[in-house]
Amino acid sequence: MQITLETQPYAALETDALASYLFEEPDPVQGRIAEIDHAAGGLLRRLVSSGEVTGKPLEMTLVHRPAGLKASRLLLVGAGKREKFDGATLRKIAGAALRYLKSRSVQRIAFLVRESDVTEDAAQAITEGALAANFEPDKYKTDKKNDKCVDSFLLAGYSDKERLAAEKGLSRGQIIAEAQNFTRELVNEPSNKLTPTLLAEKAEAMAKEAGLAVEILDEKRIADLKMGALLSVAQGSVEPPRMIIITYTPANAKPGSPVIGLVGKAVTFDTGGISIKPADGMEKMKYDMAGGATMIGVLRALAALKPSVKVICVVPSTENMPGGRAQKPGDIQTAMSGKTIEVLNTDAEGRLILADGVYYAKQLGATYLVDAATLTGAIVVALANINVGVFGSDQAWTDKLLASAKAVGEKMWQMPLDDDYREFIKGTVADIQNIGSGKGGGAITGAMFIKEFAGDTPWIHLDIAGTAWNDDAKPWLAKGPTGVALRTLVHLVMSF
Ligand code: BES
Ligand code: ZN
Ligand code: ZN
Repeated sequence: MQITLETQPYAALETDALASYLFEEPDPVQGRIAEIDHAAGGLLRRLVSSGEVTGKPLEMTLVHRPAGLKASRLLLVGAGKREKFDGATLRKIAGAALRYLKSRSVQRIAFLVRESDVTEDAAQAITEGALAANFEPDKYKTDKKNDKCVDSFLLAGYSDKERLAAEKGLSRGQIIAEAQNFTRELVNEPSNKLTPTLLAEKAEAMAKEAGLAVEILDEKRIADLKMGALLSVAQGSVEPPRMIIITYTPANAKPGSPVIGLVGKAVTFDTGGISIKPADGMEKMKYDMAGGATMIGVLRALAALKPSVKVICVVPSTENMPGGRAQKPGDIQTAMSGKTIEVLNTDAEGRLILADGVYYAKQLGATYLVDAATLTGAIVVALANINVGVFGSDQAWTDKLLASAKAVGEKMWQMPLDDDYREFIKGTVADIQNIGSGKGGGAITGAMFIKEFAGDTPWIHLDIAGTAWNDDAKPWLAKGPTGVALRTLVHLVMSF
């Protein structure tokens, strides 16, 4: 899909559909909507009077052959109350408009921004919303004959004097949304098409194309570096593990400057290992590499956006399988840091591979850490599929991330991480154990375990188990991988 800025008067645009939005307020027919209404001989006001159009969130009204417009159709999307309207709403409106029209085989869309939104941020939000909405997880369907496809999306309503701002927003939005879709493409791959080796190859190809430094550690290098926690998970599979390291260095890098370490869990399939999972729904565990895919996607965006801070992305990748050589409950492993771990449940494998990932990121020079992982079912119980669970060891660093999440419209919720929870993972026969001995607090226990390896370095853990995958399609997003947290992390790095 081609997405371009179009500064011609919107009424003159020859397109299959012109989409815009109106607010839920006493008189929704205002500004540009009033202009359209006027040209159409009062049609929109009549629709409002009849109660057919109210402006309620994501209400869709499609008008064919609207008088006064060159467009063949006019789509009006409800924007809800004006006081609640923000960038996140605009992103969803653009996405929902695209998916609504796409499902009706419309190929050329123009999106008319409202008179109060002719800003750079709005251009970015609309672009992100449209490109993310256009993603379909249909790569492996062989018969795409009847599939709908949008050819062009015009961003309309900006005048020539707003051109520069609109173009900047559009191009930033495009970089970020394409990175998000790159991540979603990876997450959607099944485990037979995306082993740790293949994930590493794809990450390497992306990094080389984007001009980023990349290093892939194979099982021998991983063993030489004594990454015993990662190896313990990998030992049950015939597929060898990989450690993926991608580095972005700014042009004016000075020694001693802060370095952000982004660590992502990439278990390409999680059977649970010997503590095997139930068969029902196990197929979804192909998305257990979403944290890693997110971090790889973030680096792809950063290569184009060029922040002024150095970023190191570390992605430990493995399968978690119940093979003849698999680790067993009760086994004791030694992590790269030297800490010993009693593995009481082999299904709590994400924290094991992150133990070595986080520690290695610090060794490579990271002074600020964020990890992202589909870590626990418990976070789904706590926050459902609405909020990402946020855990932080340093409130100032955590506040920055929460501010970024708010700015880009991703819902995140901070969870507690008091020292009292440390008791849960205190080891009996080793330094620590990989599951809690207390009752409840499963997501916190997982975070507490990873914290052991972050030490004094400001660190944030994002549990995306509930939010990385949509079980049902949303009006603005297909069913399947969401690419959650990517936009927040890009914003966090860019505003560092
Ligand atoms: N990959 C799972 C967590 C998960 C659950 C991701 C649901 C996505 C959706 C993780 O490795 C796991 O199995 N965690 C266990 C931990 C438990 C054994 C302490 C869990 O949450 O049940
Ligand atoms: Zn698991
Ligand atoms: Zn897992």
